[in-house]
Amino acid sequence: MSEFLIGSASSTQHLSVPEADGCALSSTVSIRLLTTADALAVATASARNKAFLQPWEPIRPDSFYTLAGQEVLLADSVALQHERRSLFWILFHDGAAVGRISLTDIVRGAFSNGHLGYWVAEDHQGQGLATAAVRFVCNYALEELGLHRLQAGTLIHNVGSQKVLTRCGFTSIGIAEKYIRINGWWQDHQLFQRILSPED
Ligand SMILES: CC(C)(COP(=O)(O)OP(=O)(O)OC[C@H]1O[C@@H](n2cnc3c(N)ncnc32)[C@H](O)[C@@H]1OP(=O)(O)O)[C@@H](O)C(=O)NCCC(=O)NCCS
Repeated sequence: MSEFLIGSASSTQHLSVPEADGCALSSTVSIRLLTTADALAVATASARNKAFLQPWEPIRPDSFYTLAGQEVLLADSVALQHERRSLFWILFHDGAAVGRISLTDIVRGAFSNGHLGYWVAEDHQGQGLATAAVRFVCNYALEELGLHRLQAGTLIHNVGSQKVLTRCGFTSIGIAEKYIRINGWWQDHQLFQRILSPED
């Protein structure tokens, strides 16, 4: 891990960021924070997995699947990263993006909370990658960010994702009706939380 200085001069903080090659998630897949140089890899992976992911995701504009579109989106994402308001990691295999995990809407103070989201490429399913990535981000959220709680929401029938969360220490906290507009309509979600520092 390397340490970078981020933030304004008056509020500079230290944030440990994986080296360019990232950290190993498995024998062949690594994880590292998103950079603006990842636009082509993300656009390619998004286009390749579009049909697979569509039932679980919002409907995206056509630009989402292009290099130019991702360059714009990634510039916004990296700006959020520098402000520590959201963090985005990419999973790589042989230079290709094969998954993504994000910690968004990071709030400090009395809430000290972040929201988790992730996907794994269709040709990398069932290899334990989502489980390893969620564990990695939970550890990062506690050790590097000092967050107290993470929340994630799954579609009611997303049994695979619920299994990932449960074995990473998340517990179900109920159903949120018409929570997120997924694949074109407002869909109910099962919400999960993990308290990262239960002793506090
Ligand atoms: C959900 C998702 C991230 C899981 O990724 P993954 O890398 O395959 O996950 P893991 O291998 O770590 O674990 C998945 C587990 O769920 C199981 N599983 C997957 N689909 C399942 C289903 N329909 N019913 C029961 N179990 C299922 C797998 O067998 C595996 O369990 P096992 O290791 O005991 O065999 C992936 O399927 C995905 O990207 N789906 C589309 C996007 C999505 O749903 N994102 C999450 C939104 S909340």
